[in-house]
Amino acid sequence: MTYKFSKRVPQGDTDAVGDILKVAGDPKVMSFAGGLPAPELFPVAKVKQAADKVLDEKGPAALQYGSSQGVPELRDVILKRLEVEGIHTDTDHIMVATGSQQSIDLTGKMFIDEGDAVIVEDPTYLTAIDVFRSYGAKFVGVDMDEDGMRMDSLEQALKDNPNAKLIYTVPTFQNPTGRTMTLERRKKLVELADKYDVMVLEDNPYGAIRWEGENLPSLKSMDTTNHVIYMGTMSKIFSPGLRLGWVVADPKLIKKYTMMKQSADLHTDSLAQYVCAEYFKENDINDHIKAITALYHKREQLMVKAIDKYFPKGVKHSNPEGGMFLWVMVPGVEDSQKLFDAALKRNVAIVPGDPFFGNATIPGTFRMNYSNTPEDKIEDGVKRLAEAIEEVMSVSATK
Ligand SMILES: Cc1ncc(COP(=O)(O)O)c(C=O)c1O
Repeated sequence: MTYKFSKRVPQGDTDAVGDILKVAGDPKVMSFAGGLPAPELFPVAKVKQAADKVLDEKGPAALQYGSSQGVPELRDVILKRLEVEGIHTDTDHIMVATGSQQSIDLTGKMFIDEGDAVIVEDPTYLTAIDVFRSYGAKFVGVDMDEDGMRMDSLEQALKDNPNAKLIYTVPTFQNPTGRTMTLERRKKLVELADKYDVMVLEDNPYGAIRWEGENLPSLKSMDTTNHVIYMGTMSKIFSPGLRLGWVVADPKLIKKYTMMKQSADLHTDSLAQYVCAEYFKENDINDHIKAITALYHKREQLMVKAIDKYFPKGVKHSNPEGGMFLWVMVPGVEDSQKLFDAALKRNVAIVPGDPFFGNATIPGTFRMNYSNTPEDKIEDGVKRLAEAIEEVMSVSATK
């Protein structure tokens, strides 16, 4: 049977990232590949208490169909978190989504027609690339350095693509690089969005997990012209399994998002929304975020220390001040997949750089995750990975 798929469905049967994550899930393999939070910190007992209370007190509402814009109690919780992030708004500006992933998907559906330019950081979150590609986007990659997206390159991209529909950015502890955009660049980005009249999709799943440096204002908090759509999520500060995210935008846009969400899934899981709101009422999320931050910092320090001890000379890495990832650049290596293959031979998994680019890739790059590896395993994994890098570098040097 030959299926007559729409253009949105990926061509061919290869699922490179799925294959990587599958092998990374093998218990023999030490995985620095995934992007999973540390499961030992999930507040299981407290969520159980919250769930019991919700079912006792508002069981029928929690099990019933609900509002497409989201349960009011949860939108109040989100409003308070936005205050902490310097975004002063009201609940009309908020829609609950089924994770940030749905916010990205609905944004693609709302703004992108076949052939529209979408401006992304080079590299960027790979599943956002998949979404925008499914809507027919043409990618325009903008260089980054350790201070985030370069504004001279962004302005050039805007001049070259006057009809660009969207700038997608993860300004803080970016996935995959762990880099953070400076305050100066944030201000410039908001200014450019207004000047060239292009929408910005600001994706901020990691911003609260900071162990070093100063908190920086979100783009949304500086936006006075409604060019910024902001997305947040419970996934990295609470639980990804609950699938709770949010979009913050002008109420006119929120209305459209809500209509698009109705066609996608009617509304986000009511029980999950009530349980989350109840958990936030009874517990201080900031204490929980502190525990997450302390653990990830410890793991990141161990990883960086081992990298600096074992990786061959010339290999560079980012130095995140928070979040879950760091980015490695190996000189002289043309094919990032070779790094993955050599690491896997030694039972270590990383994500090679290629899928994080909309178009041309930066060769010899890969992403490492530290949030999900126990402290006593990190050094051994990095040491084996160092041997793999050395092997690939020496083969590349003899070519
Ligand atoms: C940058 C970025 N955006 C969005 C998501 C999706 O998160 P959610 O679990 O909220 O759908 C992720 C997940 O890893 C991410 O890294």
